[in-house]
Amino acid sequence: MSNEFLPFHLPEIGPEEIRSVVETLESGWLTSGAKVKKFEEDFSRFIGCQYSVAVNSCTAALHLALEAVGVDEGDEVIVPTTTFTATAEVVLYFKAKPVLVDCRPNTFNIDPDLIERAITAKTRAIIPVHFAGQSCDMEAILQIARKHKLYVIEDAAHALPAKYHGKTIGTIGDITCFSFYATKTITTGEGGMATTQNPEWAARMRMMSLHGISHDAWKRYTKEGSWYYEVVRPGFKYNLTDIGAAIGIEQLKKCDAFGAARTRIAATYDQRFSDLCEIETPVCEPDVQHAWHLYVIQLDLERLRINRGQFIETLKEQGIGTSVHFIPLHLHPYYRDNFGYTPDDFPKSTEIYQRIISLPIYPKMTESQIEHVVEAVRKTVQRYRR
Ligand SMILES: Cc1ncc(COP(=O)(O)O)c(C=O)c1O
Repeated sequence: MSNEFLPFHLPEIGPEEIRSVVETLESGWLTSGAKVKKFEEDFSRFIGCQYSVAVNSCTAALHLALEAVGVDEGDEVIVPTTTFTATAEVVLYFKAKPVLVDCRPNTFNIDPDLIERAITAKTRAIIPVHFAGQSCDMEAILQIARKHKLYVIEDAAHALPAKYHGKTIGTIGDITCFSFYATKTITTGEGGMATTQNPEWAARMRMMSLHGISHDAWKRYTKEGSWYYEVVRPGFKYNLTDIGAAIGIEQLKKCDAFGAARTRIAATYDQRFSDLCEIETPVCEPDVQHAWHLYVIQLDLERLRINRGQFIETLKEQGIGTSVHFIPLHLHPYYRDNFGYTPDDFPKSTEIYQRIISLPIYPKMTESQIEHVVEAVRKTVQRYRR
């Protein structure tokens, strides 16, 4: 067993990505250009969607998506409390209100039964988050959305490559937003993508991602381009660079292989922890392809003499990096103080939060590193079980 520290995550960057970046640097065209266009085309083909708009983060994609469907000041948007702050913060950009909803205790995904109760006359959209890379109950969510005429903007930061009832995530809701942050299943360093089947929303997001400037602004320094442009709306500066896209094009080619590697690690963990009643392994719903961005175990604290924080420290002493996904939004000072949320408002998320640990899961992990994690977890349980 290695004595080296195993980080919670490491990206898998090969010679192909390095060559592609060098080629781009040497080409003289660094910002959004032909590489971004190719990355978008490749992504649309991979997902099977009509339009892909590349941006510099998933947060940017979520912001543009809400803008495209017309979310406005005073509106309400439903988001799960078990998520990263980006999901809710984009709602606040509009002076709209993120309305938090509790999760289902098995998948940690937003509970559709609770969505209905949170809907008011001001609700405009729902942002389901496919937690850890496992699809939400999209049938139930779409049904609610149709009934109440709400937009569905999927936060698929974790969900690539992923499927729900045979459909690829990125083809289901009105707009779907992906992340290519350094820890995600494919990376461009920082980056994101919005996918949709709606040409107007795609055009709107594209325009707003680059200052609200009309028509192919990126071409204006090329032979086909023109110096003339028009600002149609005050937009944002969210475009992805060609350097990022050069990495993304190569990462996307490996996306299925990365997904398979993560699935194999998850299966090993499932199997190697199956005899430990102190640990609950993640629940996988039927007819869902899980992207396994995260592998989250739940501790049975009644059966252990240490708490979650101490468990994490013990793993760290054994050279294992871990994380916690997520500290629910309602427990953060901003959301608690501005919306008056209490821990009891979202009992499932509050309770789960005390018990969760995300273990390392990434394609770069070797068999011996996977075994190192397994052994460290097993030893900790054996040492501290009641
Ligand atoms: C659920 C979720 N949504 C959105 C984001 C934001 O992604 P990005 O860093 O690409 O903006 C993250 C990032 O970790 C996330 O976990």
